[in-house]
Amino acid sequence: MSGTVLLTGATGYIASHTWLALWAAGFDVVGVDDFSNSSPEVLHRLQRLGDRACVFERADVCDGAAMRSLFTRHAIDAVVHFAAFKAVGESCAKPLAYYRNNIGGLISVAEAMGASGCKTLVFSSSATVYGVPEVLPIPESAALATTSPYGATKLIGENLLTDLGHADPSWRIALLRYFNPVGAHDSGLIGEDPRGTPNNLMPYITQVAVGKRERLQVFGGDYDTPDGTGVRDYIHVSDLAGGHVAALRHLMHPSGRSFTANLGTGRGHSVLELVRAFEQASGCHILYDIVARRPGDVASCYADPSRARQLLGWQASRDIAAMCADSWRWQQSNPNGYND
Ligand code: UD1
Repeated sequence: MSGTVLLTGATGYIASHTWLALWAAGFDVVGVDDFSNSSPEVLHRLQRLGDRACVFERADVCDGAAMRSLFTRHAIDAVVHFAAFKAVGESCAKPLAYYRNNIGGLISVAEAMGASGCKTLVFSSSATVYGVPEVLPIPESAALATTSPYGATKLIGENLLTDLGHADPSWRIALLRYFNPVGAHDSGLIGEDPRGTPNNLMPYITQVAVGKRERLQVFGGDYDTPDGTGVRDYIHVSDLAGGHVAALRHLMHPSGRSFTANLGTGRGHSVLELVRAFEQASGCHILYDIVARRPGDVASCYADPSRARQLLGWQASRDIAAMCADSWRWQQSNPNGYND
């Protein structure tokens, strides 16, 4: 398959892995990012891994003129729109910033696409749109709800794009609902590099292992789960990247149509299971305390991944041992992330 794909938020965690997967699948990539939550060093790493130059522009997706200009200077066949703020707690403190960036950015990208005639779009959504899941594993048909401004921006983004597809059926749009991405490229050269204290479990564990944090706080030991800790569907970021390639192949096929799909493994693992798997993979002992539940957390959340398998022929292949080994390799080789 060939064509040129624009990645917004291109130097972020999931996008950088997707960039490599797209190259490997034969696509050309144009990346855009404003580095508000990522490092230019990612581009050097990608160039090393891909043995080719990155085509990249620094711009803010909310800048409509900059987005329109991108489409006049590059022949873009499809867009994967990753660029967004993603911290749930921060979104509660700064809702306007989240709505402006996540909704404003999506609108300016979609307007620039429409003006240039490029109408093939993959949107980064999240399992957060299921709110408190009513059924497990969660199918795409489950009820949708928001539990934070961040979650609201994802649900509004999905609704906006669904309306756009109704108004103009020549759009081909994939709404991809990610579960919990973890892991890193098996080279150890690219991975997740959170700024400040990590909000998510895996980067916190790896920072404890490398000695940057003393102990993990396990949020809640009294959930209705096998060991009392929260259960999530962890998916290797390289599998997730492959899901984007499969989504683009589907959309760009002559008979391709818009769709919504979960990207998860279908398997749930508890916090303590992940800690143990990480200890095995790394040989490190992870000190932890079980503390109060984190407000807004649910007991269990894992995908029914069958639609992606049936529609896209895609399924995740890496298990939590591989996720832990690759997260550890990345953290160990880059204790300070891309600042090393
Ligand atoms: C979180 C967001 C979700 C977002 C996703 C992005 C919340 C409530 N949800 O998902 O909307 O799409 O990140 O990656 O923030 N945990 C600990 N100790 C920690 C960190 C986490 O015990 O220091 C536990 C949590 O309680 C949970 C599990 O680990 O049971 C996973 O947490 P996390 O990695 O933050 O992901 P989610 O909460 O599932």
